[in-house]
Amino acid sequence: MDARANNAPRPLGLLAELTHRCPLGCPYCSNPLALEARADELDTATWARVFREAAALGALQVHLSGGEPGARRDLVDITQAAHDAGLYTNLITSAVGITPEAFAKLSDAGLDHVQISIQDSEPGSADHIAGYKGAYARKAALAAQVTRLGIPLTVNAVMHRANIDHVEGMVALALKLGAKRVEIAHVQYYGWALKNRARLMPTREQVERAVKAVETLRLRHHGEIVIDAVVPDYYARFPKACVGGWGRRSLNVTPSGRVLPCHAAESIPALTFWNVREHSLADIWDNSPAFMAFRGTGWMQEPCRSCPKREEDFGGCRCQAFALTGDARATDPVCHLSPRHALVAELAEMREDAAYDYRR
Ligand code: SF4
Ligand code: FES
Repeated sequence: MDARANNAPRPLGLLAELTHRCPLGCPYCSNPLALEARADELDTATWARVFREAAALGALQVHLSGGEPGARRDLVDITQAAHDAGLYTNLITSAVGITPEAFAKLSDAGLDHVQISIQDSEPGSADHIAGYKGAYARKAALAAQVTRLGIPLTVNAVMHRANIDHVEGMVALALKLGAKRVEIAHVQYYGWALKNRARLMPTREQVERAVKAVETLRLRHHGEIVIDAVVPDYYARFPKACVGGWGRRSLNVTPSGRVLPCHAAESIPALTFWNVREHSLADIWDNSPAFMAFRGTGWMQEPCRSCPKREEDFGGCRCQAFALTGDARATDPVCHLSPRHALVAELAEMREDAAYDYRR
């Protein structure tokens, strides 16, 4: 890997949270519980500078995300700026709020790829999970326009107890919509999803059935569609290398310009985040305390410190370690080597059927 002067690795991708505004209310939203206000959002020119700085730092792609990025009236200009900076542009959208006219302009501005989140293969359930009547139909309509314009489409399918038995239906839907890839992504329990954990948590039997279904579907649709899927954290033996390792592969800029090593980093109260209004992206990447906090392996405690997998998974997820143990330096309790691993099994057994606490 390419190294900068202080041996920091270079980021490959930038997640640009253009706004936290969104018409949907998904109960597992990755935005923080305290949403940033429209009045605090960065303007178009600042985003354009951030994209140029990201490209200079080595980033290859930008994910234009939110909230719902379509809520930004300047989304076309923002997309154009990212394209002009030489970044591969990926729009991550709920599809609600992007008109066919607006999407045609995004395509003209150089949009390279689109990811549409779909909450379930069955329209009524999809709208219920999204907390928005008619969302499913709008997603299908935008997906049709994306593929008509020849832009590659990925369907994001976030799985949980209410829809995990529909993996086959989700893949069939992605194929019908003309997607080249479907991401079967299980809910990650931070922020809103942590609030709704007992309402979202699948059973072990459901997870095992879904894993088998994915294996079969991969064989059946080989060459037609790429199916990305990972075992959900709470049922895994080892944690994932969250965000590819802290401060190693990616960075996340919030609507107001705070730069985070991952989307949930603000859930760790001891961290302070620098802002692109006051610092260049390179300065933040190389020197900000939040990025330095868990970069590499020097911060680790046992059992990670002497574990042969420490350069592979980087001790798992810092936000999850903090959420479950109160110590962001702890081994992610998802790891079966963690002294707190039993807690994960206990939490996976806690389920309730109350109404969702929607993100609003
Ligand atoms: Fe990864 Fe730490 Fe578990 Fe080793 S002990 S597998 S480094 S989380
Ligand atoms: Fe923050 Fe995993 S979500 S490190």
